Amino acid sequence: MKTRIGLLALLFLAVVVAAGAQAPARGAGQGRGAAAATGAQIHGNLLQVMRGIIFPASNVVFTAQDDPTKVEEAVDPSTSPNPLNSSYGQWQAVENAGIALAEAANLLTIPGRMCSSGRPAPVQNADWQKFVLGLRDAGMQVYKLALTKDVDKMVDAADAVAAACGNCHDVYREKTPEQGGPKNRCLPS
Ligand code: HEC
Repeated sequence: MKTRIGLLALLFLAVVVAAGAQAPARGAGQGRGAAAATGAQIHGNLLQVMRGIIFPASNVVFTAQDDPTKVEEAVDPSTSPNPLNSSYGQWQAVENAGIALAEAANLLTIPGRMCSSGRPAPVQNADWQKFVLGLRDAGMQVYKLALTKDVDKMVDAADAVAAACGNCHDVYREKTPEQGGPKNRCLPS
């Protein structure tokens, strides 16, 4: 059995955070925040970014200590790599997923990121920026719908996300052989 310093540290942190988690999340869902000059936008507070992006990603690593091919045997549900049954699970996991998607949109605006085709991500293109906005809006729609705790609304949430992904993929990811195939990813259609 390997030492699990990371996991134990995380569990301690989770307890501390949970103790202060009853207050409303400050800065939550305030829409387009500052940082307009760089195009970056703030949708989640730090707590939400931690829960929505960093906590799920790190739990994958911590769980992998027990063998990533046997994830169903992972012992501790609180740090489950499945956000829906982790410490911040169920409806809160859906809220966090919305924040994660909206914040992840910021990562699609940073100049200099390359596509697998060797072409730069076209962050300066107007339609790319529109698709990024679509992902932000879909993420925040998920967040707001999750707050209603109405399971029927999750169909709308999923539709919004799928549309936001597909709108951009149709133009910049899906490349038929006639369009030159994957080497033309990140070129407009
Ligand atoms: C603003 C444009 C844009 C948006 C929005 C977007 N994607 Fe993508 N996505 C791309 C591009 C371009 C690629 C190809 C990247 C490459 O090959 O380097 C890609 C690739 C991917 C891949 C990898 C495909 C492969 O070849 O293995 C996955 C998975 C993916 N996207 C999922 C999503 C999901 C899920 C969403 C919505 C929640 C989403 N993307 C939203 C542009 C976008």
